Amino acid sequence: MITVRNLSVTLDRTPILHDVDTTVPAGQMTALVGPNGAGKSTLLAAIGRLTAADAGTIEIGDKNISDFAPRDLALRLAIMRQDTHVAPRLTVRDLVGFGRYPHSHGRMTQQDHNIVDDIIARMELTEFTDRFLDTLSGGQRQRALIAMTLAQGTDIVLLDEPLNNLDLVHARRVMKIAREEVEKGKTVILVLHDLTVAGSYADHVIAMKNGTVAAQGPVDDVINEPVLTDLYDTPVQVIDANGHKIVVTV
Ligand SMILES: Nc1ncnc2c1ncn2[C@@H]1O[C@H](COP(=O)(O)OP(=O)(O)O)[C@@H](O)[C@H]1O
Ligand SMILES: [Mg+2]
Repeated sequence: MITVRNLSVTLDRTPILHDVDTTVPAGQMTALVGPNGAGKSTLLAAIGRLTAADAGTIEIGDKNISDFAPRDLALRLAIMRQDTHVAPRLTVRDLVGFGRYPHSHGRMTQQDHNIVDDIIARMELTEFTDRFLDTLSGGQRQRALIAMTLAQGTDIVLLDEPLNNLDLVHARRVMKIAREEVEKGKTVILVLHDLTVAGSYADHVIAMKNGTVAAQGPVDDVINEPVLTDLYDTPVQVIDANGHKIVVTV
């Protein structure tokens, strides 16, 4: 379980997050949702220790994240940021191989190579393995970044808007793979804008608004008309279709 208590984050003297109290259940998929600018990426970066808190604590299990040695945290938690820029003259294999660095220290074993090939295949990138990243489409590059993150083999995976640039088939594929990771016991947090996807795949939802948590709980507690209408200040309709919640604005 990840526990966030009373978290505040200030960036460039601007308060961004305040009074964030939330728990992320271990071994489940949590969707982080909310309007643009709500603080989702900042919260994810704080959990990944990429952004410092000015008040509050974040614990993984019962250990404060500031007490982890860098390598121990790298072996425990992987994060894909929203605005990741990668060197264009890297191949897909090089990029995904970097994900193994905390394990291999640059000396990849056969097992590391197998893990890289396996995740490249699961992300349907095998035909692009030796292509430079700047020759890929936006969606192909996004899938390579997700593969790199999963190649780290951590039990906590944080993905900021992983479905950006993906067509609906590849978006489904990524969500299925994220579910497979959860079935293996991993804790996965994804920032999602598609609330129909969030409702279909996630176990737990954290909704952010104006720098703090507006609602949280199991899917049914958040993916419903009153909560979403409040969250977005816009009328939101949730249509039941064979047990799936289709979320639309009206
Ligand atoms: N370095 C920064 N300096 C000042 N404001 C920032 C900085 N980074 C982000 N912000 C602001 O913080 C708010 C939350 O940003 P972010 O966490 O990226 O939101 P979200 O991911 O929910 O869209 C936004 O209003 C954004 O403009
Ligand atoms: Mg964001």
